Amino acid sequence: MKRRFRRIFGITLLFLTLVAAIGSVTVLGQGGKAQASELPSLREIYQDYFEIGAAVSIAGWSSKTFDRHRELIEHHFSSLTAENEMKPEALQPGPGNFRFTDADRMVDFAVEQGMKVRGHTLVWHAQTGDWFFRDGKNQLIYEKDVITEADRQLVIDRLENHIEVVMEHFGDKVYAWDVVNEAVSDGGGAIHRPDSPWFQILGDDFMKIAFTKAHEVNPNVKLFYNDYNPEMAYKRGRTIKMLEDLLADGVPVHGIGIQGHWSVDGTTIKEIEQAIRMYADLGLEIHITEMDVGMEGFTEEQQAERYRELFQLFKKHSDVITSVTIWGITDDASWRRDENPLLFDGNGEPKPAFWALVDTDKPWYVNKAEYTNAVEFFNSAGEMVGALKPGDYNLNELDSLGFNLAEVTGLQVEKGHLITFFEQEGQQGTAWHFITTEDFAGGAMATQAKSLSIASIETDNIALNKPTKANVLGERAHRAVDGEKISSWSPSAEPPYWLEVDLEGTYLLSRWVVRLHGTGPLAGEVEESPFNAADFSLQISDDGVNWQDVDVVEGNTASICDRDLNLVKASYVRLYVTRPTSVDRNNSLAVYEFEVYGTVLD
Ligand code: XIL
Repeated sequence: MKRRFRRIFGITLLFLTLVAAIGSVTVLGQGGKAQASELPSLREIYQDYFEIGAAVSIAGWSSKTFDRHRELIEHHFSSLTAENEMKPEALQPGPGNFRFTDADRMVDFAVEQGMKVRGHTLVWHAQTGDWFFRDGKNQLIYEKDVITEADRQLVIDRLENHIEVVMEHFGDKVYAWDVVNEAVSDGGGAIHRPDSPWFQILGDDFMKIAFTKAHEVNPNVKLFYNDYNPEMAYKRGRTIKMLEDLLADGVPVHGIGIQGHWSVDGTTIKEIEQAIRMYADLGLEIHITEMDVGMEGFTEEQQAERYRELFQLFKKHSDVITSVTIWGITDDASWRRDENPLLFDGNGEPKPAFWALVDTDKPWYVNKAEYTNAVEFFNSAGEMVGALKPGDYNLNELDSLGFNLAEVTGLQVEKGHLITFFEQEGQQGTAWHFITTEDFAGGAMATQAKSLSIASIETDNIALNKPTKANVLGERAHRAVDGEKISSWSPSAEPPYWLEVDLEGTYLLSRWVVRLHGTGPLAGEVEESPFNAADFSLQISDDGVNWQDVDVVEGNTASICDRDLNLVKASYVRLYVTRPTSVDRNNSLAVYEFEVYGTVLD
């Protein structure tokens, strides 16, 4: 069933996975590459919600990488974070040896672009020169048996001096600072992480010292505590306790930064939402400071769905979430590059994750088609002769499409879309629907049709919980459409066996799925089995009396049969099984679920 131009539509996760395996179109414009300026701007889309930021590093800043990144940064982001260049080891690699060149270039660029700058980070246990922690004899203070008051004071002075020089240097150009990064312990038993030299030398005082100093240096700046996993139940309690104590003590902490180095599965939206509420209850502003979503074996479509759900959540809480920063621009320059966690691929092309953010109420491919193309048309030589966005078109003037329909022999329809030709102008009269090249001939359409429309559609399992009939074991037939993958319809008599579903309306069908014996608990959810139905077909009917095969399967052994359909209209569907297993003379059939996907016809 899978052909080169096949495109199917659907919204379930399984469906998304399936389509990802087939591959998706990334063509923008007429086969050309996306100019960043042609894309919808995230900065504009999110302007009423929160700042949308990007982290950039000088490595990706110099040379050619930056040429590629620059346009994307300018077009999409309203906030900038230096990925490494404002960390202590970068700004003060040796005592009193301040280096601001790289950071200044970034800040100047941001200011020119009207972007805000988040400072990251003043106090951290990592990427900090160990000179901060050495005494006059060059000994690491935190390794000493006895830490003297003079040792403590030396470290406090360095801490305060670093904060003062750095914050004075940037002044109001940096509107928010991650004052302290990653101070909370991953293990229970203690609030502060035990391996931080700051904690080892100064105890929990270092937090208070840092925030107090920062506020004193520049009271205009918003001061954040930043960490990974503060949204996760295992670390949330300790983080809240630490912040509560600081706030009770009058320490000027204004916000919490949730880093957001996430994965496609991982922390649930519910858990993250609980955390957002809890931090908001402390009176803190929330920034998502380092977001990325690693793929780890998932598809780009699943990654897009995760980005979409997360941004839906952020929008819902935009009264307290005032900034969301993505930790990098293109996958190839990401610190998690093996997991391709970002919105743009190595060529700077937008990924499904980018399109998901364009409008989080719609599937990514619908957003994409609106800005690019929903249907591409090919001639017999396989060359693209034209492309159209979603919309209504009349065919009366030859050039209204910008190409000659008569010479078209192939179509490529973006997932989630449908092209319909109509007998009359204004999208009236007999209609012919297509989601694939199959059965499509431009010549025929050019003579028969006077208008066309391209639209996005959503599909559901339309057989779910609908009335059923069967020739054998009819009283159990509903078990095949009950959405329960452990209850089955299992006739064992004399084939053929058929199971009919009244769709209670007329639908355009695009896909059907049968979950057979091997998916069940008895077989142990195997992928293949000789006890899976071997020969069967999907039949359709307008009246429940006259039936017609629309897709025939022969010699099947797979436990899940998942097939695309060229669009057909039907009010009734029937699973018609002639050989229930590939084991001769075994007449037992087990259908755990029979699903038919489609969209209602107006
Ligand atoms: C990372 C950078 O992305 C890398 O380039 C660098 O090699 C290591 O640090 N938490 C933080 C960030 O607060 O500063 C880290 O950035 C990622 C984890």
